[in-house]
Amino acid sequence: MAIFEVDGTRIAYDRFADDAPSHAVVLLHAFPLSRLMWEPQTEDLRGVWQLIVPDMRGHGASDVASEATTMERMADDVHALVESLGVAPVVLVGLSMGGYVALAYTRKYPGEVKALVLADTRATADSEEARAGRYALIEEVAATGPSVVAEKMLPKLLSAKAIETKPELVVAVRRMIETTSPAGIAASLAGMAERADSTDVLPTIMVPTLVLVGSEDAVTPESDARALAEAIPNARLEVIEEVAHLSNLENPGEFNRLVKEFLTNLDAKTE
Ligand code: MLT
Repeated sequence: MAIFEVDGTRIAYDRFADDAPSHAVVLLHAFPLSRLMWEPQTEDLRGVWQLIVPDMRGHGASDVASEATTMERMADDVHALVESLGVAPVVLVGLSMGGYVALAYTRKYPGEVKALVLADTRATADSEEARAGRYALIEEVAATGPSVVAEKMLPKLLSAKAIETKPELVVAVRRMIETTSPAGIAASLAGMAERADSTDVLPTIMVPTLVLVGSEDAVTPESDARALAEAIPNARLEVIEEVAHLSNLENPGEFNRLVKEFLTNLDAKTE
């Protein structure tokens, strides 16, 4: 793990295969997880592509810096990191909150994105009800700590089948949630509650885009993924069957196969 400092805030990240000749690929994690959720991808992809895997501020080993961390702030952190490593333009792979950050990045730095993988995410802002739910959860986390988030979110992050048959995966996801600081959880909840609608950005995205979704994703369902793929001119949608929101963890084999195929085609196009 390495540390990068931006405006006095320490951002932790992993970098794999910095000598790989092909694209730099940045993996952006979901809420309230950390860069560790990408382990099944880094193990498989690191031999071919350079991978940069940050902990968003407030998550993993990065600092928490403010009461609300906007998606733009996270995008700026990632951009500053990419600049400091001298690897722009990059391929952004974002899952859920990571997808919100990828869209914010694309809006702010459109010429610096080579391709996008948007997994289990959406472009729309929160409904009033969802926003109220996030603020209620901020209160609960302040009162009882992150385990309340694990209790509420685990049944939505993973399918019933995974919860029943993959106890080690449940333990790993729970650990990531429970080791996230209450302040970090609150900052990201507030940032997601206030995030802008990114629907207007979608028709302006001209880079190759892969949209992935688990067929049982109840947090950002297939209809959200379909809307992304229909609005982005150069996008392809792939549904990963029988998995829920954390599709990269529930079926890493299929997730990695689709991402590798996408990146390989990208290599061929830019050769
Ligand atoms: C995530 O997985 O990043 C979150 O569930 C996204 C959200 O709460 O909107």
